[in-house]
Amino acid sequence: MSRIATTPFDDQRPGTSGLRKKVATFQQPHYLENFVQSVFDVIPALKGGILVLGGDGRFYNREAIQTILKMAAANGIAEILVGQHGLLSTPAVSHLIRKYKAQGGIILSASHNPGGPDGDFGIKFNTDNGGPAAESITEAIFERSQAIDEYQLLSNEDIDLDVAGKLQIGEMHVSVIDSIGDYAELMQSIFDFEAIRALLARPDFTMAFDAMHAVTGPYAKRIFEEMLFAGDGAVINGVPLTDFGGGHPDPNLAHAPELVAMTLGDDGVDFAAASDGDGDRNMILGKNIFVTPSDSLAIMAANATLIPDYSNGISGIARSMPTSQAADRVADKLGLNNYETPTGWKFFGNLLDAGKVTFCGEESFGTSSDHVREKDGLWAVLFWLNLLAAKQQSVKEIVEQHWREYGRNYYTRYDYEAVDSAAANQLMERLREQLPALLNTKLDGRLVTLADDFSYTDPVDGSISDQQGVRILFEDGSRVVYRLSGTGTEGATLRVYLEYFEPETDKQLLDTAEVMQPFVDIATSLAKIEELTGRSEPTVIT
Ligand code: G1P
Ligand code: ZN
Repeated sequence: MSRIATTPFDDQRPGTSGLRKKVATFQQPHYLENFVQSVFDVIPALKGGILVLGGDGRFYNREAIQTILKMAAANGIAEILVGQHGLLSTPAVSHLIRKYKAQGGIILSASHNPGGPDGDFGIKFNTDNGGPAAESITEAIFERSQAIDEYQLLSNEDIDLDVAGKLQIGEMHVSVIDSIGDYAELMQSIFDFEAIRALLARPDFTMAFDAMHAVTGPYAKRIFEEMLFAGDGAVINGVPLTDFGGGHPDPNLAHAPELVAMTLGDDGVDFAAASDGDGDRNMILGKNIFVTPSDSLAIMAANATLIPDYSNGISGIARSMPTSQAADRVADKLGLNNYETPTGWKFFGNLLDAGKVTFCGEESFGTSSDHVREKDGLWAVLFWLNLLAAKQQSVKEIVEQHWREYGRNYYTRYDYEAVDSAAANQLMERLREQLPALLNTKLDGRLVTLADDFSYTDPVDGSISDQQGVRILFEDGSRVVYRLSGTGTEGATLRVYLEYFEPETDKQLLDTAEVMQPFVDIATSLAKIEELTGRSEPTVIT
């Protein structure tokens, strides 16, 4: 075993979802090692314990895995479960930690950010409940990284990640495991695979799943094509590539145009879906309809009892603050617990562990349940397939029926990527200063009934998270929300979230962009976006 001298890097504070940087940053000598050693130092239970390890297959994934294996062996980890080919989706890691009672898991991923040598890389640590480490832990890891002066590494040959089997590095047992089997089994235990098979066998029903050349490719092929007989070709872009084929593995209307096009027109597929780099996000489409993630969460909650695993009902729903309030309406009507949390999946963990909620969702294409402690892209896709099978209705019919019953929350998000950090911070600061004066005034004729910087007190452990986004709520339930991204790697990303509630059925089928325009105008002028950032248009609209 070697102890290797090192010095701290000052930029190792994890963001919304782990430590995410340019590949070149991670390739600096000691950069990855410092962070991993900090994790091992902060989580003593890993010594003598079990660790799950895998990634989304992006550039540098395999190299990082080999390094972490040698460090784990030197740090006294007893057993490591590593995904074959170095692949494990984020929800699969969460499941493996729980199933094998591991003390933690390391996921190598920058989620939906582009990959390749010039792209991004990332590392996330999940704790023994299967969920992303809580802020107190990520802070402790960061603090440790600021004092680190050495790390431990066992000199050893690289292992063959492509062959499943058991081997040993020093004293540490290594199992190279089939990345898919346990996860597929879990899905089978939640959903009615028989009913989904019958749906997919219908000659008038077609589906497409876009894996975006990311980690869900092999999972989707096994589950949709081999287990559910969706037919060869139901999975597109199914081979994981280190640069995701040059694309941006983010399942949304902007980044999955090929899939969206397949749903349009009379010959469009009846159901289409996509997942992101590490398999935790999902996009759901039907023939000529896109289901917003916020609506998807609400619809799932409203129909939960149609799915075998939730047939006895669910305890509650949690949504991140910027996610539309559509789920709140379902919770109200069905008498379910309902929580509004800061952005990022880590805030759902305590609520799920305490049984306070069963479903969680974020507007950023994330939905999941208490079956794991991460968002889960394929779970959401299977949920929708099961729902379509149970209701024997089209996606469009289900969504529009939901709006008729609960009202429609029109929703859109504007992202201004890679803006100057100082300008972005100044913009947020200016907004915060304006908040007290905004209350009870009118913006474009709409009365402001709440204007604050969202603060969250965790109902389970009492921890407080401040400054989680500026929200302005209007009398009619509409909202404008601003926050800065915690996952970008270049400058700052300003996110502006806009929501408008429409209770009247005859106004629920209008064009989202048109309906949202007045709110876009309010949001851009109130924050002086163009003046302060120099941007007259957002980079991405979702
Ligand atoms: C973004 C999303 C957030 C999600 C996170 C990780 O974080 O907004 O909902 O949990 O990615 O997928 P942000 O960049 O906004 O901090
Ligand atoms: Zn992701």
